[in-house]
Amino acid sequence: MTRPPFSGGPNARPTHPLTRAARMPLAEAGPPLAVRAARVSVARMRRAVARAVRHSPHSLFLRELVTQPGTVGAICASSPRLAARMAEQVDPTADGLVVELGGGTGVITAALLARGVAPERLVVIEQSEALAAHLGRRFPQLRVLRADAAELAQLHAQGALSGGPNGAPLPIAYIVSGLPLLSIPLPARQRILQAGAQALAPNGRLLQFTYALRGPSPWQSAGLARLHCERVLANLPPARIDVLGRPGIG
Ligand SMILES: C[S@@+](CC[C@H](N)C(=O)[O-])C[C@H]1O[C@@H](n2cnc3c(N)ncnc32)[C@H](O)[C@@H]1O
Repeated sequence: MTRPPFSGGPNARPTHPLTRAARMPLAEAGPPLAVRAARVSVARMRRAVARAVRHSPHSLFLRELVTQPGTVGAICASSPRLAARMAEQVDPTADGLVVELGGGTGVITAALLARGVAPERLVVIEQSEALAAHLGRRFPQLRVLRADAAELAQLHAQGALSGGPNGAPLPIAYIVSGLPLLSIPLPARQRILQAGAQALAPNGRLLQFTYALRGPSPWQSAGLARLHCERVLANLPPARIDVLGRPGIG
């Protein structure tokens, strides 16, 4: 083995290359292998957490709330209790379609499926591109339309909601609305109310939850009558469910 030439002073002693490395400043030597490995796994973990947060329904909901506060209209998705109480108003054996307006991250959609509504009879309409894509991934068995609820009557008349025999549109037995009607500007709200009231089957039911615990339902201004109403306090904020139908049809 060839040694490096010894170039110290008269009292200097030759040093072993390993001893020299040990004396090097840390920055020059670089962190030890174990530290570097730990840093790599921390970076990997951070990336995995960021990915999970990006795709979690909660952060999706919050992102939509920040970018479109008026159309999301809630600080968080409905509680499982509110979703279950909404779904309990639906008779899963009734003929016709169940159309959910404003599906969001799918809390009420999941409760409707758990209630026993057949997937081929459940259609979800969601305006936000990101939320509609999320719903499509979460419920691949359902028809999810990225559309404005104000187009409901038109979509129904065109047969876009149902795969009924010969393309004939099935009647809409239930409209289940999570739309934040009170924070939607009046002209847009009126178009939604008109479309919903027009599309509902003569003996159909419309369910709407709202954070206004008192007062009439906006759907009454479109000619529907309130048949039943209940409060769900186990929600943030507490909510009211209105069940509406055509006047005179109890
Ligand atoms: C309060 S969030 C309710 C979400 C979900 N149903 C829940 O209960 O957690 C309202 C949802 O309605 C959607 N939305 C608002 N205006 C809409 C419109 N005109 N047509 C369709 N969806 C709409 C929003 O994008 C949002 O997902």
